[in-house]
Amino acid sequence: MKSGQHILALDQGTTSSRAIVFDDQLRPVASGQYEFRQHFPQSGWVEHDAEEIWASTQRAVRTALTDAELTPRQIAAIGITNQRETVVVWDKDTGHAIHRAIVWQDRRTADTTARLRDEGHEAEVIARTGLLLDPYFSASKLSWLLDHVEGARALANAGRLAFGTVDTWLIWKLTDGKRHVTDATNAARTMLYNIHEGCWDTHMLDMWNIPSSMMPEVMDCAAEFGMTSGETLGASVPIRGVAGDQQAATVGQACFEPGMMKSTYGTGCFALLNTGDKAVVSDNRLLTTIGYQIGGKPTYAVEGSIFIAGAAVQWLRDGVRLIHSAGQAGGLAQDADPEQHVYLVPAFTGLGAPYWDAEARGAMFGMTRNTGPAEIAKATLESVAYQTRDLFEAMKKDGAATGETVLRVDGGMTASDWTMQALADQLQAPVDRPIVRETTALGVAYLAAMQSDIAGSPAEFAQRWQLDRQFTPEMDVETVDRKYAGWCDAVRRTLSTT
Ligand code: G3P
Repeated sequence: MKSGQHILALDQGTTSSRAIVFDDQLRPVASGQYEFRQHFPQSGWVEHDAEEIWASTQRAVRTALTDAELTPRQIAAIGITNQRETVVVWDKDTGHAIHRAIVWQDRRTADTTARLRDEGHEAEVIARTGLLLDPYFSASKLSWLLDHVEGARALANAGRLAFGTVDTWLIWKLTDGKRHVTDATNAARTMLYNIHEGCWDTHMLDMWNIPSSMMPEVMDCAAEFGMTSGETLGASVPIRGVAGDQQAATVGQACFEPGMMKSTYGTGCFALLNTGDKAVVSDNRLLTTIGYQIGGKPTYAVEGSIFIAGAAVQWLRDGVRLIHSAGQAGGLAQDADPEQHVYLVPAFTGLGAPYWDAEARGAMFGMTRNTGPAEIAKATLESVAYQTRDLFEAMKKDGAATGETVLRVDGGMTASDWTMQALADQLQAPVDRPIVRETTALGVAYLAAMQSDIAGSPAEFAQRWQLDRQFTPEMDVETVDRKYAGWCDAVRRTLSTT
């Protein structure tokens, strides 16, 4: 990148809004981060206040810029990455959201998606969107809003309402309502976008009864998304990179070649494997998605989505109060009695891939009178390794992953050496942890820098990826497989259909 240039990356996540300033070497130099409220109006419902998302983002930007001693004018471009699938609907005339945003974790539409599945619609949904009929994705949530918010349907039919995932909402706000746009990776998570034809799918819009006038324009991940208005940012800065957070991490991990795979351990865990220009349809309940889209050309990925990973450690800390800080879990697990075989199935918000059981709830198996905090901590951390193995096994059966596959990891949980070793053991494959673990923000900063002509090619960017530590399998295969068989049995007993 040219010297003196800075990129501002906005990372709008499920629990906090962050802003990170990257320097001309794409090194993070300053940041701001603010949490915002989680609303749980009913069991299984999760909402965010869209205005609070915007306010916390603005605050994070101010903190990051002050910290970096920069003014908005000194920012070459902005990149935006975001929690995916979460739905915001607003009135184009007033700019106000008509309801709180319905978050990706929300299960209120489980009955609707189950009914459509029973009626035999899933094959068509897979063929068009690469997704499965599950409440996780945007379509059923958007449809729910139109059906339940008073007057929404009439306003939508009159062309007054706009739909957006969080990237679209932020761009609308940043450009003072001038731009209603998204990128192909976020569009690919709505269940309304045809990932093969590269357009909103009329059939899916009809199926969910959604007027096409609500939909944003879909662009590449590196593109001219709009200019911020002086009113909102204090200067006119181009927005040039956008990608859903898991896809941005795929770029940040430089997984540009088919066969390369990354897994991000945040609230949940999302593993994406690059399949190049081929959209691989999974026979094993994985998703087909757009990994990134550059120069009008989509690069596809298969994705395994796990809803609870880091959130299980959070539960140990804040729910059962077994630990004071997340960092403690690894140390505790190390002291566990190796003779005990305790399993935690953290189906707190249902199970994602490859089970897709929205009604399942968490369970623990194999406890004895000797089971204590150490065994429970171990079972919690191991659940992350087992869930990743579930995805890996599905990817292998699909022929997407092979014996050669190396997993690149990032996210908060990767700080735990104990967990990473358990992961390498379960996968019986190398696990690579990079030096820079801010891969989500880095990915979108790179996209914005590339579009601004101030960064090198993807190949050059990939060369700069640096390994911190590689974890290789140490446990014998027989023990690993015996432990995994115990996990599979625990999951079988947790599923809502058993
Ligand atoms: O699909 C949901 C995912 O994008 C959420 O990511 O990091 O906000 O938990 P995160």
